[in-house]
Amino acid sequence: MSEKKPPLLEVDDLSVTFSQRGRDPVEAVSEVSFTIGEGENVGIVGESGSGKSVTSMALMGLLPERGVTVGGSARYQGKDLLRMSRRELNRIRGTEIAMVFQDPMSSLNPVVTIGTQISEVIKRHNRVTSKQAADRSAELLDRVGIPDPRRRLSEYPHQLSGGIRQRVLIAIALACEPKLLIADEPTTALDVTIQAQILTQLRELVADFGTSLIMITHDLGVVAGLCDEVHVMYAGRIVESADRRPLFAQPRHPYTGGLLQSVPRLDSPRDEPLEPIPGSPTDTLPWSEGCAFQPRCSNAVDQCLQQTPRLEPDDGRLLRCFNPLEGGGRDR
Ligand SMILES: Nc1ncnc2c1ncn2[C@@H]1O[C@H](COP(=O)(O)OP(=O)(O)OP(=O)(O)O)[C@@H](O)[C@H]1O
Ligand code: SF4
Ligand SMILES: [Mg+2]
Repeated sequence: MSEKKPPLLEVDDLSVTFSQRGRDPVEAVSEVSFTIGEGENVGIVGESGSGKSVTSMALMGLLPERGVTVGGSARYQGKDLLRMSRRELNRIRGTEIAMVFQDPMSSLNPVVTIGTQISEVIKRHNRVTSKQAADRSAELLDRVGIPDPRRRLSEYPHQLSGGIRQRVLIAIALACEPKLLIADEPTTALDVTIQAQILTQLRELVADFGTSLIMITHDLGVVAGLCDEVHVMYAGRIVESADRRPLFAQPRHPYTGGLLQSVPRLDSPRDEPLEPIPGSPTDTLPWSEGCAFQPRCSNAVDQCLQQTPRLEPDDGRLLRCFNPLEGGGRDR
């Protein structure tokens, strides 16, 4: 019998606390555990402030060193990213693990051409001539769906549209053929048609490169056609983890149900209003006092204000809720 391969990344009980003088510490992330295997796509979904970016920044060692306490572990190929030396982490970052951020302008160098920026990454990781690096850069731009890639190589970031800039960032991230790509809201600023095109291309690219993908987004619609497994975060904690199909077919956590109600469906009438989740992410309780989602939850029962729900197995998924939803959701 063949031995089961260990996951590529195994995050266990990750927590991040910010301390500022004169203020109570802020536990931005807590009890976050998930794994991702080779070639798998995982989604982390939640509204603004739920701790998605802080989770990814902690994994990449990008949080400030002062005033931040990171707990738990994140074993990448067996080695804990959270305990690695700066040098080792720098080596892994950009070679084995790459990241794409929401704002391409702040991630691209405004005074260096696109071609040079991609070639630099290729040359850092491969012994190639400038000509070979330029050829490979054009090939990558073509792969991410940029027309006339040769011409684009000599252009500067400000000459490109938002959609093209985001594609360039994806090309740069993939230039080192990473084993893991963390994409943090990579298409949020773009219009829906461009967003859909980029997501389709991203799915094909990670499949071709054999790259595992962590897709971070506030929009469940983004993970619908892309991710095998989805972790839904609220107020710094995972509240539901499930395979994509059962999650969409039957959300169990009231927050997941709310997120799903606010995703437009292709088959619904155009004028059918979407139902946003009542209240805002700031209407939360501290987890120490009960369920953080209680102030916004239509399923709340007395227990929700007396006890903190734990993330527990529930019919093939993980769920943090005393009174989960029953009944159907939608097919994806
Ligand atoms: N440097 C910091 N100091 C104090 N608190 C912080 C700091 N950075 C983030 N936080 C807090 O951590 C929480 C999680 O923030 P995070 O950026 O991870 O949210 P997010 O889920 O990525 O949201 P968005 O969808 O807006 O990007 C927020 O409540 C935020 O206020
Ligand atoms: S634990 Fe209670 S308040 Fe929290 S989501 Fe479940 S039902 Fe709602
Ligand atoms: Mg964020």
